[in-house]
Amino acid sequence: MATQAWTMAPARERKPNRDCKGADNAPSRDRKGADQSASRFRILGEFAGLIGLPTSEFVLCLSSNTGIIISMSDNFAQNVKQVADWLHRADRVAVMTGAGVSAESGVATFREAGGLWEGRRAEEVATPEAFRADPESVWRFYKLRRTGLLECRPNPAHEALAELERICANFCLITQNVDDLHRQAGSQNLIELHGNIWIDRCWDCDRQERPEQVSEEPIPRCSACGGMMRPGVVWFGEMLPPEAIDGAQSAAAQADVMLVVGTSSLVQPAASLAMVAQQNGAKVVEINPEATPLTHSADLVIAEKAGIAVPAVLEALPSES
Ligand code: OAD
Repeated sequence: MATQAWTMAPARERKPNRDCKGADNAPSRDRKGADQSASRFRILGEFAGLIGLPTSEFVLCLSSNTGIIISMSDNFAQNVKQVADWLHRADRVAVMTGAGVSAESGVATFREAGGLWEGRRAEEVATPEAFRADPESVWRFYKLRRTGLLECRPNPAHEALAELERICANFCLITQNVDDLHRQAGSQNLIELHGNIWIDRCWDCDRQERPEQVSEEPIPRCSACGGMMRPGVVWFGEMLPPEAIDGAQSAAAQADVMLVVGTSSLVQPAASLAMVAQQNGAKVVEINPEATPLTHSADLVIAEKAGIAVPAVLEALPSES
C-alpha cells in the first residue's frame, strides 16, 4: 500500500545546530522511507473517484474545508523571526509550493474563485481520457494557459526562494506548479512534480520538445514520428515522474525545515510530503492566507501572502546565513 511508504520513516535523531551555509558537505543521513519507489503514486485530488481510480491506494488526506479561522498576521513579525531562526540552524531545507506562490504574478490558482477548475470539470481537460477523446479541445485549454503565462513574471516570493537556495547549501524546491516561474526566477535545484506546461511530449514515442512559441497548429505534431504531441504536465490518473517523486520524498525526509507555500494541500502525493518531513523531525511551516488540511499539523503558520511572507523571512535571516 502506498500509505506505508509515507508513514514508516522513524523520527530521526536531531543533529546539533549548524549554520545553513556550513552544511555544504554534510554527509547524507540514513533516510529510511526516503527511497521508496514512487511508481505506485498517482496524482489524484478530489477527482480520483470521478475518473474511476481506486482512491484507497493513495489517498492520504483529502479535505475541502478545515473551518479554521486564522487571525491574520497577528504575530507576523514574531513568526517570521522564528522561521528565519529555524532556517538559520537548518542543514537541509525543503520547500513545497503550489499555485498560490504564483498568484501574485497573475497566474490563476485552481480551486479559488476564478480558479482554473472553477466551472470546469478537471476530467474534461486534465486526464489522458480527455485527451484521447478530444485532443484538440485539451490543447485549446493548454494553449490558452500558455498564452496567459507569457504575460506573467516571477514575483518577490519566487525571487526570495531563489535567493534562499543561494544561501542554503542543501536546498530543494519542490513545486506542483507547471508555470516555469521558479526556474525563471533562478531556482536550480527544482523538482517539478506535475511537469512543465512549456514541454510538449509525444503521445506515441514519448519524445520531449520545448517549443519556442505557442503553436498555431490545433494539435502539435512530433518532429520525430509525426505523432500527436501532448502537454508535458501530469494529468489526473497518471503516474508522477518516478525521479520527481523519489527526489521529493527524499528531500522531504531529509529536511530540517520544510516550507509549504501557497498550496491547498489537497492533491496527493504532494500534500503528504509535509507529513514525511515532520515525521522525520522537520519543522513544517505553512505560508498561506487561507487554512488548509495542513494548517492543524504545521509547526507554524504564517497566514499571509507568499509575496510578503517569503521575502520577509529572507530578510530576517541573520546576515551570515
Ligand atoms: P489550489 O488552487 O488548490 O490552491 C491554491 C492555494 O494558494 C490556496 O490554498 C490559496 O489559499 C493559496 N493562495 C492564494 N493566493 C496566495 C498567495 N498570494 N500567497 C500564498 N498562498 C496563496 O492550488 P494547488 O494547491 O497548487 O494539478 O493545487 C495542486 C494541484 O491541483 C495543481 O498542481 C494542479 C491542481 O489540480 C494539476 O493540474 C496536475
